[in-house]
Amino acid sequence: MADIDTRDLSFDEFDEVISPRPEENDFDRIVESAISRRGFLGGVLAFGSFTALGTSLVPTGAKASDGRFAFTQIPTSTADDVIVPEGYKSEMLVRWGDPLWSDVPEFDDSTRGTADSQARAFGDNTDGMDVFSHDGKTLLVVNNEYTNRDIIALSAEDKRIMAEDDIAKGMMAHGISVVEIANDGGTWKIVKDSPYNRRITPQSEMELTGPAAGHDLMKTEADPTGTKSLGTWNNCGNGVTPWGTYLTCEENFNGYFSAPENPDREVSPELARYGVSATDWGYNWAVIEDRYDVSKHPNEPNRAGYVVEIDPTDPTSTPKKRTALGRFKHENAEAVVNNDGRIVVYMGDDERGEFVYRYVSNGVYAPGAPTDELLNDGILYVAKFSDNGTGAWVALTPETTGMDQAEIHIHTRQAGSKVGATTMDRPEWISANPKAPEIYCCLTNNKKRGVKPNAGGDDTSVNGPNPREKNNYGQIVRWRPDGGDHTAPGFTWDLYVLAGNPTVHSDAYAGSANINEENMFNSPDGLAFDSNGLVWIQTDGNYKNEGDFAGQGNNQMLAGDPVTGEIRRFMVGPNECEITGLTWSPDRRTMFVGIQHPGERGNSHWPAGGASVPRSAIIAVTREDGGLVG
Ligand code: FEO
Ligand code: CA
Ligand code: CA
Repeated sequence: MADIDTRDLSFDEFDEVISPRPEENDFDRIVESAISRRGFLGGVLAFGSFTALGTSLVPTGAKASDGRFAFTQIPTSTADDVIVPEGYKSEMLVRWGDPLWSDVPEFDDSTRGTADSQARAFGDNTDGMDVFSHDGKTLLVVNNEYTNRDIIALSAEDKRIMAEDDIAKGMMAHGISVVEIANDGGTWKIVKDSPYNRRITPQSEMELTGPAAGHDLMKTEADPTGTKSLGTWNNCGNGVTPWGTYLTCEENFNGYFSAPENPDREVSPELARYGVSATDWGYNWAVIEDRYDVSKHPNEPNRAGYVVEIDPTDPTSTPKKRTALGRFKHENAEAVVNNDGRIVVYMGDDERGEFVYRYVSNGVYAPGAPTDELLNDGILYVAKFSDNGTGAWVALTPETTGMDQAEIHIHTRQAGSKVGATTMDRPEWISANPKAPEIYCCLTNNKKRGVKPNAGGDDTSVNGPNPREKNNYGQIVRWRPDGGDHTAPGFTWDLYVLAGNPTVHSDAYAGSANINEENMFNSPDGLAFDSNGLVWIQTDGNYKNEGDFAGQGNNQMLAGDPVTGEIRRFMVGPNECEITGLTWSPDRRTMFVGIQHPGERGNSHWPAGGASVPRSAIIAVTREDGGLVG
């Protein structure tokens, strides 16, 4: 500094000289704007740069006061087990391969089932889920996002080509499981043979609805009308509607398409934006079904990447793909009823540098009135965040994008790029605070932030809600619609938390002021508010427990207080799992939590232990005193 006359420098240049690491400059700039916006947090700054602010203004995770938390924070863990706080217990509800009907054989570790048994058993890799009360019954609806081929398919050991039954078995482990559950003497169990039990798989008929239905880009040899497609897969997060249906979100649909006979075939730029190519992820579905061969059926991928509405109370109902909500790698779909009765759905596109969306229905919801058009007829918007803490929703219309209406709902990413949407650090779950008009969104991580553009060529330099280059820890952004109106054109935003590791870093990568050595984590992903207004955060992060992630252990679930910013760790999962999916029993005395892909790298035998096959599962967490858990 001694050699430089700072009076000659602009503000920006001044920052450059004082803090030569560019990521710190940008972060501090964002923090500066946040300081002028303390009102958002009721006078408390919930995040800050350690270098810029020095001290925390937020209560930290392990203080003696219980605040709004009815549990004592647990430490990180690297045990191959589920850990919950003292006074709580976890029990098994349902595992991958558990039969939903009594004529289906029990899961067999030595074979891991067949395509036929899997089609009538609980699917693999549990993700988003919800519970519905209907006619005195409790129905659990669960996404089965994907499979780990090395676990489900013995023939995958060859790594190149799987036996056809293994390919089909993997396919049938995808989709959705609907299963009745009942509390039997204090323990929740699945009800085999319930008339509500259902598997929805890549083989189930779907109806295409909304602006894209019937468009030429949706037509295939098997469906010249462009209104009926077969199946749903890679169902990630979920949502529920106020009228009691389930929304399942098609995320990484692209990796199932390939061109086995034309491996050098190039796909269109429109498909390339979504990551479709002649090479799949090894699922080999095109080997057993032509429709997954993109060289033969180039429109087939246009029929995936949607939010699908399912009526869990009618096992004969046809799921409806709601193209009005756009086509991208849908994480979840958080639906709220606006004050005027319109339905607003917030959605993220989980890919590096992709966008956050909002759908607003044209019609209003009236309990008992028809609801079918509420998710067909509306306007799709994309978010633009400004560094000054404000933001705007830009409508995706023929006028703003130069695309026709159907195309906007098929090539939604391209529409977002055309209006200059803000590139985000992989938007995962979005959840609405039931106690305030505010929305939280996990931005899980983005190692390419500031390094390379997104798949559409959009700039991904650091920006307001994505303030760190090569962001390997993630953050949670939240926004408040102007005037508390979810249909308003504008909003204000701030960061609820920047995840980080204060034992390794002392700059922005240490995390925000509400992160400390005791509660640290990386890669927030699942997110859900409980009825009491606490926000539950689930991680899908790096569990190697060394380097940048030293001391962070296995993936975990934490609870956060939206007002004070305090965050506490509630649960740690078994080895190599992701914690994802969270819902509650109707009496709020049981919390159902999803444990996805334990042992994805071969190092877990959860839940059975010994030499058993690791199995994705849903656990039921209760208080030992039978109290409320959310
Ligand atoms: Fe399926 Fe973005 O997580
Ligand atoms: Ca996720
Ligand atoms: Ca994730």
